[in-house]
Amino acid sequence: QEPAAPGAGSVKQQISNLVALSLRATVPEVDVEPIVEVCTGKFGDYQCNNAMGLWSKVKGSGTSFKNPNAIGQAIAKNLPACDVIESASVAGPGFVNIVLSKSWVAKRIQDMLVNGIKTWAPILPVKRVVLDFSSPNIAKEMHVGHLRSTIIGDTLARMFEFSNVEVLRCNHVGDWGTQFGMLIEFLFEKFPNWEELGSQAIGDLQVFYKASKQRFDEDAEFKDRAQQAVVRLQGGEEKYRAAWKKICEISRNEFDQVYKLLDVQLEEKGESFYNPYIPQVLEKLSSQGLIEESEGARVIFIQGHQIPLIVVKRDGGFNYASTDLAALWYRLNVEKAEWIIYVTDVGQQQHFDMFFKAARMAGWLPDPKEKKFPKTSHVGFGLVLGADGKRFRTRSTEVVRLGDLLDEAKSRSKSELLQRLTENGKIVDWTDEELEQTSKAVGYGAVKYADLKNNRLTNYTFSFDQMLSDKGNTAVYLQYAHARICSIIRKSNMDVEELKVSGNISLAHPDERVLGLYLIRYAEIVEEACTNLLPSVLCEYLYNLSEMFTRFYTNCQVVGSPEEPSRLLLCEATAVVMRQCFQLLGITPVYKL
Ligand code: ARG
Repeated sequence: QEPAAPGAGSVKQQISNLVALSLRATVPEVDVEPIVEVCTGKFGDYQCNNAMGLWSKVKGSGTSFKNPNAIGQAIAKNLPACDVIESASVAGPGFVNIVLSKSWVAKRIQDMLVNGIKTWAPILPVKRVVLDFSSPNIAKEMHVGHLRSTIIGDTLARMFEFSNVEVLRCNHVGDWGTQFGMLIEFLFEKFPNWEELGSQAIGDLQVFYKASKQRFDEDAEFKDRAQQAVVRLQGGEEKYRAAWKKICEISRNEFDQVYKLLDVQLEEKGESFYNPYIPQVLEKLSSQGLIEESEGARVIFIQGHQIPLIVVKRDGGFNYASTDLAALWYRLNVEKAEWIIYVTDVGQQQHFDMFFKAARMAGWLPDPKEKKFPKTSHVGFGLVLGADGKRFRTRSTEVVRLGDLLDEAKSRSKSELLQRLTENGKIVDWTDEELEQTSKAVGYGAVKYADLKNNRLTNYTFSFDQMLSDKGNTAVYLQYAHARICSIIRKSNMDVEELKVSGNISLAHPDERVLGLYLIRYAEIVEEACTNLLPSVLCEYLYNLSEMFTRFYTNCQVVGSPEEPSRLLLCEATAVVMRQCFQLLGITPVYKL
Protein backbone atom coordinates (compact mmCIF):
# COMPACT_ATOMS: atom_id res chain seq x y z
CA GLN A 1 0.00 0.00 0.00
CA GLU A 2 1.19 3.49 -0.82
CA PRO A 3 1.97 5.77 2.10
CA ALA A 4 -0.70 8.40 2.49
CA ALA A 5 0.05 12.09 2.11
CA PRO A 6 0.91 13.72 5.43
CA GLY A 7 -2.21 15.02 7.10
CA ALA A 8 -4.47 12.74 5.07
CA GLY A 9 -6.68 10.06 6.57
CA SER A 10 -8.24 9.85 9.99
CA VAL A 11 -6.54 11.08 13.13
CA LYS A 12 -6.17 7.50 14.26
CA GLN A 13 -4.45 6.74 10.97
CA GLN A 14 -2.07 9.64 11.44
CA ILE A 15 -1.23 8.62 14.98
CA SER A 16 -0.69 5.08 13.71
CA ASN A 17 1.73 6.40 11.10
CA LEU A 18 3.72 8.17 13.81
CA VAL A 19 3.65 5.11 16.05
CA ALA A 20 4.83 2.97 13.12
CA LEU A 21 7.91 5.20 12.80
CA SER A 22 8.56 4.92 16.51
CA LEU A 23 8.18 1.14 16.44
CA ARG A 24 10.70 0.89 13.65
CA ALA A 25 13.17 2.89 15.72
CA THR A 26 12.41 1.03 18.95
CA VAL A 27 12.48 -2.57 17.75
CA PRO A 28 13.99 -2.57 14.25
CA GLU A 29 14.27 -6.37 14.37
CA VAL A 30 10.51 -6.92 14.65
CA ASP A 31 7.90 -6.07 12.05
CA VAL A 32 4.60 -5.19 13.71
CA GLU A 33 1.49 -3.23 12.86
CA PRO A 34 0.81 -0.31 15.18
CA ILE A 35 -2.04 -0.92 17.61
CA VAL A 36 -3.64 2.44 18.27
CA GLU A 37 -6.97 3.02 20.01
CA VAL A 38 -8.86 5.90 21.47
CA CYS A 39 -7.73 6.22 25.06
CA THR A 40 -9.98 4.58 27.61
CA GLY A 41 -8.44 6.34 30.63
CA LYS A 42 -8.04 10.03 31.30
CA PHE A 43 -4.28 10.28 30.76
CA GLY A 44 -4.36 10.58 27.05
CA ASP A 45 -6.44 10.99 23.92
CA TYR A 46 -5.13 7.98 22.03
CA GLN A 47 -3.11 5.05 23.23
CA CYS A 48 -0.61 2.68 21.70
CA ASN A 49 -0.88 -0.91 22.95
CA ASN A 50 2.10 -2.49 21.21
CA ALA A 51 4.52 -2.81 24.13
CA MET A 52 3.02 -5.90 25.77
CA GLY A 53 2.86 -7.93 22.57
CA LEU A 54 6.35 -6.84 21.58
CA TRP A 55 7.70 -7.91 24.93
CA SER A 56 6.57 -11.48 24.41
CA LYS A 57 8.29 -11.42 21.02
CA VAL A 58 11.67 -10.05 22.15
CA LYS A 59 12.13 -11.38 25.67
CA GLY A 60 14.69 -14.10 25.87
CA SER A 61 16.32 -12.96 22.64
CA GLY A 62 19.03 -10.97 24.35
CA THR A 63 17.06 -7.73 24.23
CA SER A 64 18.23 -4.84 26.36
CA PHE A 65 14.67 -4.13 27.46
CA LYS A 66 13.93 -5.24 31.02
CA ASN A 67 10.14 -5.45 30.78
CA PRO A 68 7.19 -4.33 28.64
CA ASN A 69 7.01 -1.02 30.46
CA ALA A 70 10.55 -0.24 29.27
CA ILE A 71 9.48 -0.93 25.69
CA GLY A 72 6.53 1.43 26.25
CA GLN A 73 8.94 4.11 27.49
CA ALA A 74 11.05 3.69 24.38
CA ILE A 75 8.03 3.84 22.09
CA ALA A 76 6.96 7.07 23.79
CA LYS A 77 10.45 8.55 23.53
CA ASN A 78 10.89 7.57 19.88
CA LEU A 79 7.72 9.19 18.66
CA PRO A 80 8.92 11.66 16.04
CA ALA A 81 8.82 15.29 17.01
CA CYS A 82 5.85 16.88 15.30
CA ASP A 83 3.02 19.32 15.85
CA VAL A 84 0.44 16.55 16.33
CA ILE A 85 1.50 15.14 19.69
CA GLU A 86 1.91 17.24 22.77
CA SER A 87 3.17 14.54 25.11
CA ALA A 88 3.27 10.81 25.67
CA SER A 89 3.47 8.89 28.92
CA VAL A 90 3.46 5.25 29.91
CA ALA A 91 0.99 3.60 32.26
CA GLY A 92 0.77 0.14 33.83
CA PRO A 93 2.48 -2.67 31.93
CA GLY A 94 3.29 -0.44 28.97
CA PHE A 95 0.30 1.43 27.61
CA VAL A 96 1.55 4.52 25.85
CA ASN A 97 -0.86 7.38 26.41
CA ILE A 98 -0.71 10.06 23.79
CA VAL A 99 -1.98 13.59 24.33
CA LEU A 100 -2.74 15.57 21.20
CA SER A 101 -1.64 19.14 20.89
CA LYS A 102 -4.54 21.54 21.33
CA SER A 103 -3.30 23.84 18.64
CA TRP A 104 -3.07 20.97 16.17
CA VAL A 105 -6.64 19.89 16.95
CA ALA A 106 -7.81 23.47 16.52
CA LYS A 107 -5.96 23.81 13.25
CA ARG A 108 -7.42 20.60 11.90
CA ILE A 109 -10.92 21.87 12.60
CA GLN A 110 -10.20 25.21 11.06
CA ASP A 111 -8.73 23.62 7.95
CA MET A 112 -11.89 21.59 7.58
CA LEU A 113 -14.05 24.70 7.88
CA VAL A 114 -12.07 26.39 5.14
CA ASN A 115 -11.51 23.45 2.79
CA GLY A 116 -14.67 21.43 3.37
CA ILE A 117 -15.60 18.24 5.17
CA LYS A 118 -14.38 16.15 2.24
CA THR A 119 -10.87 16.77 3.55
CA TRP A 120 -11.89 14.59 6.48
CA ALA A 121 -12.60 11.54 4.35
CA PRO A 122 -10.90 8.42 5.67
CA ILE A 123 -8.57 6.44 3.43
CA LEU A 124 -9.93 2.94 2.94
CA PRO A 125 -7.91 0.02 1.56
CA VAL A 126 -10.48 -0.64 -1.18
CA LYS A 127 -11.24 1.17 -4.42
CA ARG A 128 -14.30 -0.47 -5.86
CA VAL A 129 -17.26 -1.97 -4.05
CA VAL A 130 -20.37 -3.72 -5.32
CA LEU A 131 -23.21 -3.09 -2.93
CA ASP A 132 -26.16 -5.40 -3.53
CA PHE A 133 -29.11 -3.97 -1.65
CA SER A 134 -32.86 -3.38 -1.67
CA SER A 135 -33.38 -6.19 -4.22
CA PRO A 136 -37.14 -6.75 -3.98
CA ASN A 137 -38.95 -9.40 -5.98
CA ILE A 138 -41.08 -8.51 -8.93
CA ALA A 139 -44.79 -8.90 -8.44
CA LYS A 140 -44.33 -9.87 -4.85
CA GLU A 141 -44.64 -7.47 -1.98
CA MET A 142 -41.86 -5.04 -1.29
CA HIS A 143 -41.97 -5.53 2.45
CA VAL A 144 -40.33 -3.80 5.41
CA GLY A 145 -37.40 -6.17 5.05
CA HIS A 146 -36.71 -4.57 1.70
CA LEU A 147 -37.14 -1.17 3.30
CA ARG A 148 -34.45 -2.07 5.81
CA SER A 149 -32.17 -3.34 3.08
CA THR A 150 -32.74 -0.15 1.11
CA ILE A 151 -32.03 2.15 4.04
CA ILE A 152 -29.01 0.26 5.37
CA GLY A 153 -27.57 -0.32 1.91
CA ASP A 154 -27.97 3.31 0.89
CA THR A 155 -26.18 4.50 4.03
CA LEU A 156 -23.31 2.10 3.46
CA ALA A 157 -23.07 3.31 -0.12
CA ARG A 158 -23.01 6.95 1.01
CA MET A 159 -20.29 6.25 3.56
CA PHE A 160 -18.09 4.49 1.02
CA GLU A 161 -18.69 7.19 -1.56
CA PHE A 162 -17.73 9.85 0.96
CA SER A 163 -14.53 7.86 1.51
CA ASN A 164 -13.71 8.09 -2.20
CA VAL A 165 -14.56 4.47 -2.90
CA GLU A 166 -16.35 3.75 -6.15
CA VAL A 167 -19.66 2.06 -5.39
CA LEU A 168 -21.79 0.08 -7.81
CA ARG A 169 -25.24 0.24 -6.26
CA CYS A 170 -26.84 -2.97 -7.49
CA ASN A 171 -30.51 -3.77 -7.26
CA HIS A 172 -30.58 -7.57 -7.59
CA VAL A 173 -34.32 -7.72 -8.18
CA GLY A 174 -36.03 -11.08 -8.35
CA ASP A 175 -37.19 -10.75 -11.95
CA TRP A 176 -36.74 -14.32 -13.08
CA GLY A 177 -38.08 -17.65 -11.99
CA THR A 178 -41.03 -19.93 -12.26
CA GLN A 179 -43.56 -17.50 -10.80
CA PHE A 180 -43.50 -15.66 -14.12
CA GLY A 181 -45.27 -18.52 -15.88
CA MET A 182 -48.43 -18.04 -13.90
CA LEU A 183 -48.18 -14.26 -14.02
CA ILE A 184 -47.89 -14.25 -17.79
CA GLU A 185 -50.76 -16.69 -18.31
CA PHE A 186 -52.91 -14.70 -15.94
CA LEU A 187 -52.08 -11.53 -17.80
CA PHE A 188 -53.15 -13.10 -21.09
CA GLU A 189 -56.36 -14.35 -19.53
CA LYS A 190 -57.38 -11.21 -17.63
CA PHE A 191 -56.18 -8.62 -20.11
CA PRO A 192 -56.39 -9.99 -23.66
CA ASN A 193 -55.41 -6.52 -24.87
CA TRP A 194 -52.44 -6.33 -22.48
CA GLU A 195 -50.10 -5.05 -25.15
CA GLU A 196 -51.96 -1.76 -25.47
CA LEU A 197 -52.46 -1.25 -21.75
CA GLY A 198 -50.55 1.25 -19.70
CA SER A 199 -49.17 0.06 -16.41
CA GLN A 200 -51.98 1.69 -14.41
CA ALA A 201 -54.65 -0.40 -16.12
CA ILE A 202 -53.36 -3.59 -14.60
CA GLY A 203 -53.69 -2.10 -11.16
CA ASP A 204 -52.00 -3.28 -8.06
CA LEU A 205 -49.43 -5.94 -8.82
CA GLN A 206 -49.68 -7.55 -5.44
CA VAL A 207 -53.37 -8.13 -5.92
CA PHE A 208 -52.57 -9.42 -9.36
CA TYR A 209 -49.96 -11.78 -7.93
CA LYS A 210 -52.35 -13.14 -5.32
CA ALA A 211 -55.12 -13.71 -7.83
CA SER A 212 -52.86 -15.50 -10.25
CA LYS A 213 -51.49 -17.66 -7.47
CA GLN A 214 -54.98 -18.62 -6.48
CA ARG A 215 -55.82 -19.50 -10.07
CA PHE A 216 -52.62 -21.54 -10.25
CA ASP A 217 -53.44 -23.48 -7.11
CA GLU A 218 -57.05 -24.17 -8.00
CA ASP A 219 -57.02 -25.01 -11.68
CA ALA A 220 -54.88 -27.84 -12.95
CA GLU A 221 -55.32 -26.82 -16.56
CA PHE A 222 -54.13 -23.28 -15.78
CA LYS A 223 -51.21 -24.66 -13.84
CA ASP A 224 -50.25 -26.70 -16.84
CA ARG A 225 -50.36 -23.65 -19.09
CA ALA A 226 -48.33 -21.66 -16.57
CA GLN A 227 -45.62 -24.29 -16.56
CA GLN A 228 -45.59 -24.27 -20.35
CA ALA A 229 -45.25 -20.51 -20.21
CA VAL A 230 -42.08 -20.74 -18.16
CA VAL A 231 -40.53 -22.95 -20.79
CA ARG A 232 -41.61 -20.66 -23.58
CA LEU A 233 -40.33 -17.59 -21.75
CA GLN A 234 -36.99 -19.19 -21.09
CA GLY A 235 -36.88 -20.37 -24.69
CA GLY A 236 -37.08 -16.71 -25.64
CA GLU A 237 -40.44 -16.75 -27.38
CA GLU A 238 -41.28 -13.17 -28.35
CA LYS A 239 -44.79 -12.86 -26.95
CA TYR A 240 -43.73 -14.31 -23.61
CA ARG A 241 -40.68 -12.06 -23.39
CA ALA A 242 -42.89 -9.05 -24.06
CA ALA A 243 -45.37 -10.04 -21.36
CA TRP A 244 -42.53 -10.61 -18.90
CA LYS A 245 -41.12 -7.19 -19.74
CA LYS A 246 -44.49 -5.59 -19.17
CA ILE A 247 -44.86 -7.14 -15.73
CA CYS A 248 -41.33 -6.09 -14.78
CA GLU A 249 -42.01 -2.57 -15.95
CA ILE A 250 -45.09 -2.21 -13.78
CA SER A 251 -43.18 -3.51 -10.81
CA ARG A 252 -40.27 -1.22 -11.52
CA ASN A 253 -42.54 1.81 -11.54
CA GLU A 254 -43.81 0.87 -8.11
CA PHE A 255 -40.31 0.37 -6.71
CA ASP A 256 -39.09 3.60 -8.23
CA GLN A 257 -41.73 5.56 -6.38
CA VAL A 258 -40.36 4.29 -3.09
CA TYR A 259 -36.77 5.01 -4.13
CA LYS A 260 -37.76 8.51 -5.09
CA LEU A 261 -39.38 9.14 -1.73
CA LEU A 262 -36.33 7.80 0.06
CA ASP A 263 -33.91 9.59 -2.27
CA VAL A 264 -32.06 6.38 -3.04
CA GLN A 265 -30.15 5.73 -6.24
CA LEU A 266 -29.94 2.16 -7.51
CA GLU A 267 -28.97 0.46 -10.68
CA GLU A 268 -31.20 -2.43 -11.56
CA LYS A 269 -29.38 -5.60 -12.51
CA GLY A 270 -31.88 -8.27 -11.76
CA GLU A 271 -31.55 -12.02 -11.67
CA SER A 272 -32.45 -12.21 -15.36
CA PHE A 273 -29.30 -10.26 -16.21
CA TYR A 274 -27.05 -13.03 -14.92
CA ASN A 275 -29.06 -15.86 -16.38
CA PRO A 276 -27.03 -16.12 -19.61
CA TYR A 277 -23.81 -16.45 -17.57
CA ILE A 278 -24.98 -19.38 -15.46
CA PRO A 279 -24.14 -22.24 -17.86
CA GLN A 280 -20.53 -21.15 -18.39
CA VAL A 281 -19.96 -20.48 -14.70
CA LEU A 282 -21.34 -23.89 -13.75
CA GLU A 283 -19.26 -25.42 -16.51
CA LYS A 284 -16.11 -23.97 -14.93
CA LEU A 285 -17.06 -25.19 -11.47
CA SER A 286 -17.88 -28.56 -12.90
CA SER A 287 -14.51 -28.86 -14.65
CA GLN A 288 -12.89 -28.18 -11.28
CA GLY A 289 -14.75 -31.18 -9.96
CA LEU A 290 -16.86 -29.16 -7.56
CA ILE A 291 -20.28 -30.10 -8.86
CA GLU A 292 -21.76 -33.48 -8.16
CA GLU A 293 -24.96 -35.33 -8.90
CA SER A 294 -27.26 -35.84 -5.93
CA GLU A 295 -30.79 -37.19 -6.05
CA GLY A 296 -31.21 -35.96 -9.58
CA ALA A 297 -30.01 -32.45 -8.81
CA ARG A 298 -26.57 -30.95 -9.36
CA VAL A 299 -25.01 -29.78 -6.16
CA ILE A 300 -21.87 -28.53 -4.42
CA PHE A 301 -21.00 -30.19 -1.15
CA ILE A 302 -19.67 -27.70 1.35
CA GLN A 303 -17.70 -28.42 4.46
CA GLY A 304 -19.57 -27.68 7.65
CA HIS A 305 -22.98 -27.89 6.01
CA GLN A 306 -25.33 -30.84 6.26
CA ILE A 307 -27.14 -30.17 3.03
CA PRO A 308 -25.35 -29.34 -0.19
CA LEU A 309 -25.82 -26.17 -2.22
CA ILE A 310 -28.15 -27.00 -5.10
CA VAL A 311 -27.12 -25.28 -8.30
CA VAL A 312 -29.28 -27.10 -10.84
CA LYS A 313 -32.69 -28.31 -9.74
CA ARG A 314 -34.03 -31.73 -10.55
CA ASP A 315 -36.10 -30.29 -13.40
CA GLY A 316 -32.94 -28.85 -14.90
CA GLY A 317 -33.76 -25.27 -13.89
CA PHE A 318 -31.39 -22.83 -12.29
CA ASN A 319 -32.12 -21.28 -8.91
CA TYR A 320 -31.23 -18.51 -6.47
CA ALA A 321 -27.83 -20.05 -5.74
CA SER A 322 -26.79 -20.58 -9.34
CA THR A 323 -27.82 -17.01 -10.09
CA ASP A 324 -25.79 -15.72 -7.17
CA LEU A 325 -22.73 -17.69 -8.25
CA ALA A 326 -22.97 -16.25 -11.76
CA ALA A 327 -23.53 -12.76 -10.33
CA LEU A 328 -20.48 -13.10 -8.10
CA TRP A 329 -18.41 -14.30 -11.02
CA TYR A 330 -19.57 -11.27 -13.02
CA ARG A 331 -18.87 -8.84 -10.21
CA LEU A 332 -15.38 -10.17 -9.72
CA ASN A 333 -14.35 -10.59 -13.32
CA VAL A 334 -16.31 -8.05 -15.30
CA GLU A 335 -17.01 -5.34 -12.75
CA LYS A 336 -13.67 -5.94 -11.03
CA ALA A 337 -15.07 -5.33 -7.58
CA GLU A 338 -12.78 -5.88 -4.63
CA TRP A 339 -15.48 -6.05 -2.02
CA ILE A 340 -18.94 -7.41 -2.72
CA ILE A 341 -21.49 -6.65 -0.05
CA TYR A 342 -25.00 -8.11 0.22
CA VAL A 343 -27.66 -6.54 2.40
CA THR A 344 -30.53 -8.89 3.31
CA ASP A 345 -32.28 -10.17 6.41
CA VAL A 346 -30.29 -12.57 8.61
CA GLY A 347 -32.58 -15.37 7.53
CA GLN A 348 -30.51 -15.67 4.35
CA GLN A 349 -27.22 -16.03 6.15
CA GLN A 350 -26.86 -19.70 5.39
CA HIS A 351 -27.36 -19.13 1.69
CA PHE A 352 -24.60 -16.53 1.63
CA ASP A 353 -22.31 -18.53 3.81
CA MET A 354 -22.66 -21.50 1.48
CA PHE A 355 -22.12 -19.80 -1.82
CA PHE A 356 -19.23 -17.73 -0.44
CA LYS A 357 -17.60 -20.99 0.58
CA ALA A 358 -18.27 -22.47 -2.83
CA ALA A 359 -16.55 -19.46 -4.39
CA ARG A 360 -13.56 -19.98 -2.13
CA MET A 361 -13.40 -23.66 -3.06
CA ALA A 362 -13.27 -22.54 -6.68
CA GLY A 363 -10.38 -20.23 -5.86
CA TRP A 364 -12.32 -17.07 -6.69
CA LEU A 365 -11.77 -15.64 -3.23
CA PRO A 366 -8.85 -15.91 -0.82
CA ASP A 367 -9.24 -17.46 2.61
CA PRO A 368 -10.86 -14.79 4.84
CA LYS A 369 -8.13 -15.38 7.42
CA GLU A 370 -5.67 -13.80 5.01
CA LYS A 371 -7.66 -10.55 5.23
CA LYS A 372 -7.11 -9.88 1.55
CA PHE A 373 -9.25 -8.63 -1.26
CA PRO A 374 -11.36 -9.56 -3.09
CA LYS A 375 -13.81 -10.40 -0.39
CA THR A 376 -17.52 -10.83 0.15
CA SER A 377 -19.67 -9.87 3.12
CA HIS A 378 -23.23 -10.50 4.08
CA VAL A 379 -24.77 -7.59 5.91
CA GLY A 380 -27.61 -9.27 7.77
CA PHE A 381 -30.32 -7.50 9.68
CA GLY A 382 -33.10 -8.43 12.08
CA LEU A 383 -36.86 -8.19 11.81
CA VAL A 384 -39.07 -5.17 12.12
CA LEU A 385 -41.68 -5.88 14.78
CA GLY A 386 -45.05 -4.32 15.42
CA ALA A 387 -46.26 -3.11 18.83
CA ASP A 388 -47.57 -6.64 19.41
CA GLY A 389 -44.06 -8.05 19.15
CA LYS A 390 -44.93 -9.89 15.96
CA ARG A 391 -43.70 -9.18 12.46
CA PHE A 392 -44.69 -5.65 11.53
CA ARG A 393 -47.93 -5.29 9.54
CA THR A 394 -50.33 -2.42 9.11
CA ARG A 395 -53.92 -2.50 10.29
CA SER A 396 -55.81 -2.87 7.07
CA THR A 397 -53.70 -5.08 4.87
CA GLU A 398 -51.37 -7.90 5.48
CA VAL A 399 -48.52 -6.03 3.88
CA VAL A 400 -46.93 -2.76 4.79
CA ARG A 401 -47.08 -0.20 2.03
CA LEU A 402 -43.86 1.68 2.26
CA GLY A 403 -45.27 4.81 0.68
CA ASP A 404 -48.10 4.95 3.23
CA LEU A 405 -45.66 4.47 6.04
CA LEU A 406 -43.52 7.42 5.00
CA ASP A 407 -46.64 9.51 4.43
CA GLU A 408 -47.84 8.85 7.91
CA ALA A 409 -44.47 9.78 9.42
CA LYS A 410 -44.59 13.03 7.53
CA SER A 411 -48.14 13.95 8.44
CA ARG A 412 -47.56 13.14 12.09
CA SER A 413 -44.47 15.29 12.25
CA LYS A 414 -46.32 18.06 10.44
CA SER A 415 -49.16 18.17 12.92
CA GLU A 416 -46.74 18.22 15.82
CA LEU A 417 -44.76 21.00 14.26
CA LEU A 418 -47.91 23.01 13.56
CA GLN A 419 -49.11 22.60 17.09
CA ARG A 420 -45.84 23.70 18.60
CA LEU A 421 -45.46 26.69 16.30
CA THR A 422 -49.00 27.77 16.99
CA GLU A 423 -48.49 27.53 20.75
CA ASN A 424 -45.34 29.61 20.53
CA GLY A 425 -46.95 32.13 18.22
CA LYS A 426 -44.22 31.42 15.69
CA ILE A 427 -46.42 30.02 12.98
CA VAL A 428 -46.36 33.39 11.20
CA ASP A 429 -42.65 32.98 10.49
CA TRP A 430 -43.21 29.89 8.39
CA THR A 431 -44.31 29.53 4.78
CA ASP A 432 -46.40 26.54 3.70
CA GLU A 433 -43.49 25.35 1.62
CA GLU A 434 -41.15 25.45 4.62
CA LEU A 435 -43.65 23.55 6.73
CA GLU A 436 -44.02 20.91 4.09
CA GLN A 437 -40.29 20.46 3.47
CA THR A 438 -39.48 20.41 7.17
CA SER A 439 -42.07 17.83 8.09
CA LYS A 440 -40.91 15.68 5.24
CA ALA A 441 -37.28 15.89 6.32
CA VAL A 442 -38.17 15.23 9.94
CA GLY A 443 -40.68 12.45 9.26
CA TYR A 444 -38.70 10.49 6.68
CA GLY A 445 -35.52 11.05 8.65
CA ALA A 446 -37.18 9.60 11.74
CA VAL A 447 -38.10 6.40 9.91
CA LYS A 448 -34.58 5.99 8.55
CA TYR A 449 -32.85 6.81 11.81
CA ALA A 450 -35.01 4.40 13.83
CA ASP A 451 -33.86 1.70 11.48
CA LEU A 452 -30.19 2.64 11.48
CA LYS A 453 -29.48 3.47 15.09
CA ASN A 454 -29.60 -0.06 16.51
CA ASN A 455 -27.09 -2.73 15.75
CA ARG A 456 -28.58 -4.01 12.51
CA LEU A 457 -28.69 -7.63 13.70
CA THR A 458 -31.20 -6.91 16.44
CA ASN A 459 -34.92 -6.86 15.76
CA TYR A 460 -36.55 -3.53 16.38
CA THR A 461 -40.06 -2.42 17.13
CA PHE A 462 -41.60 0.00 14.72
CA SER A 463 -43.29 2.78 16.64
CA PHE A 464 -44.20 6.18 15.26
CA ASP A 465 -44.53 7.57 18.78
CA GLN A 466 -41.02 6.54 19.67
CA MET A 467 -39.29 7.57 16.49
CA LEU A 468 -41.06 10.93 16.35
CA SER A 469 -40.35 11.82 19.95
CA ASP A 470 -38.13 14.86 20.43
CA LYS A 471 -36.43 13.26 23.42
CA GLY A 472 -33.82 10.55 23.52
CA ASN A 473 -31.82 9.14 20.68
CA THR A 474 -34.13 10.02 17.79
CA ALA A 475 -33.70 11.85 14.52
CA VAL A 476 -36.15 14.49 15.73
CA TYR A 477 -34.01 15.24 18.77
CA LEU A 478 -30.94 15.46 16.55
CA GLN A 479 -32.68 17.71 14.06
CA TYR A 480 -33.56 20.03 16.95
CA ALA A 481 -30.00 19.96 18.20
CA HIS A 482 -28.70 20.92 14.78
CA ALA A 483 -31.32 23.62 14.24
CA ARG A 484 -30.46 25.10 17.61
CA ILE A 485 -26.81 25.43 16.66
CA CYS A 486 -27.84 27.13 13.45
CA SER A 487 -29.94 29.56 15.41
CA ILE A 488 -27.03 30.37 17.75
CA ILE A 489 -24.94 31.19 14.71
CA ARG A 490 -27.74 33.33 13.25
CA LYS A 491 -28.10 35.20 16.52
CA SER A 492 -24.49 36.28 16.65
CA ASN A 493 -23.55 39.54 15.00
CA MET A 494 -20.36 38.04 13.71
CA ASP A 495 -19.96 36.66 10.24
CA VAL A 496 -18.92 33.00 10.44
CA GLU A 497 -17.78 32.89 6.83
CA GLU A 498 -15.33 35.66 7.55
CA LEU A 499 -14.27 34.12 10.85
CA LYS A 500 -13.41 30.85 9.14
CA VAL A 501 -10.57 32.61 7.35
CA SER A 502 -9.55 35.27 9.85
CA GLY A 503 -10.54 33.83 13.22
CA ASN A 504 -8.78 31.38 15.46
CA ILE A 505 -10.13 28.41 17.37
CA SER A 506 -8.86 28.09 20.91
CA LEU A 507 -9.65 25.04 23.02
CA ALA A 508 -8.85 26.51 26.41
CA HIS A 509 -11.91 25.31 28.31
CA PRO A 510 -11.99 21.53 29.01
CA ASP A 511 -15.41 21.20 27.37
CA GLU A 512 -14.11 22.96 24.27
CA ARG A 513 -11.21 20.55 24.09
CA VAL A 514 -13.47 17.50 24.51
CA LEU A 515 -15.77 18.76 21.77
CA GLY A 516 -12.87 19.56 19.47
CA LEU A 517 -11.32 16.15 19.94
CA TYR A 518 -14.61 14.45 19.25
CA LEU A 519 -15.14 16.48 16.09
CA ILE A 520 -11.82 15.40 14.62
CA ARG A 521 -12.69 11.76 15.27
CA TYR A 522 -15.25 12.00 12.48
CA ALA A 523 -13.05 10.33 9.85
CA GLU A 524 -12.17 7.33 11.96
CA ILE A 525 -15.82 6.83 12.84
CA VAL A 526 -16.74 6.67 9.16
CA GLU A 527 -13.78 4.37 8.66
CA GLU A 528 -14.99 2.05 11.40
CA ALA A 529 -18.57 2.10 10.14
CA CYS A 530 -17.36 1.14 6.65
CA THR A 531 -14.91 -1.49 7.84
CA ASN A 532 -17.46 -3.23 10.04
CA LEU A 533 -20.43 -2.38 7.83
CA LEU A 534 -22.26 -0.85 10.78
CA PRO A 535 -24.27 2.33 10.18
CA SER A 536 -25.16 2.32 13.90
CA VAL A 537 -21.60 3.41 14.65
CA LEU A 538 -22.24 6.67 12.83
CA CYS A 539 -25.60 7.17 14.59
CA GLU A 540 -23.95 6.71 17.95
CA TYR A 541 -21.31 9.25 17.03
CA LEU A 542 -23.92 11.77 15.91
CA TYR A 543 -25.86 11.36 19.12
CA ASN A 544 -22.75 11.64 21.32
CA LEU A 545 -21.63 14.68 19.39
CA SER A 546 -24.89 16.45 20.09
CA GLU A 547 -24.58 15.56 23.78
CA MET A 548 -21.05 16.91 23.88
CA PHE A 549 -22.16 20.06 22.19
CA THR A 550 -24.86 20.52 24.81
CA ARG A 551 -22.29 20.19 27.58
CA PHE A 552 -20.04 22.71 25.88
CA TYR A 553 -22.92 25.10 25.32
CA THR A 554 -24.11 24.81 28.90
CA ASN A 555 -20.67 25.59 30.31
CA CYS A 556 -19.27 27.97 27.73
CA GLN A 557 -21.12 31.12 26.83
CA VAL A 558 -20.95 31.78 23.12
CA VAL A 559 -22.79 34.92 22.01
CA GLY A 560 -21.65 38.00 23.89
CA SER A 561 -18.57 36.39 25.47
CA PRO A 562 -14.96 37.44 24.80
CA GLU A 563 -14.44 33.98 23.25
CA GLU A 564 -17.31 34.46 20.83
CA PRO A 565 -15.23 34.29 17.63
CA SER A 566 -13.58 31.00 18.56
CA ARG A 567 -16.70 29.45 20.04
CA LEU A 568 -18.79 30.42 17.07
CA LEU A 569 -16.37 28.51 14.89
CA LEU A 570 -16.79 25.47 17.14
CA CYS A 571 -20.56 25.81 16.74
CA GLU A 572 -20.15 25.98 12.99
CA ALA A 573 -17.82 22.97 12.91
CA THR A 574 -20.29 20.95 14.99
CA ALA A 575 -23.11 21.92 12.64
CA VAL A 576 -21.04 20.98 9.58
CA VAL A 577 -20.13 17.58 11.01
CA MET A 578 -23.71 16.91 12.11
CA ARG A 579 -24.99 17.79 8.65
CA GLN A 580 -22.46 15.47 7.08
CA CYS A 581 -23.63 12.67 9.38
CA PHE A 582 -27.22 13.35 8.36
CA GLN A 583 -26.17 13.33 4.75
CA LEU A 584 -24.49 9.93 5.13
CA LEU A 585 -27.58 8.59 6.88
CA GLY A 586 -29.74 9.79 4.01
CA ILE A 587 -31.49 12.35 6.21
CA THR A 588 -32.16 15.92 5.10
CA PRO A 589 -31.02 18.31 7.84
CA VAL A 590 -33.24 21.24 8.76
CA TYR A 591 -31.88 24.63 9.75
CA LYS A 592 -34.86 25.89 11.67
CA LEU A 593 -37.33 24.00 13.82
N1 ARG B 1 -34.57 -10.84 -3.90
C1 ARG B 1 -34.05 -11.36 -2.67
C2 ARG B 1 -35.14 -11.31 -1.59
O1 ARG B 1 -36.06 -10.56 -1.69
C3 ARG B 1 -32.84 -10.61 -2.19
C4 ARG B 1 -31.65 -10.66 -3.09
C5 ARG B 1 -30.38 -10.33 -2.41
N2 ARG B 1 -29.25 -10.36 -3.29
C6 ARG B 1 -28.65 -11.45 -3.74
N3 ARG B 1 -27.65 -11.31 -4.56
N4 ARG B 1 -29.04 -12.65 -3.37
O2 ARG B 1 -35.04 -12.03 -0.62
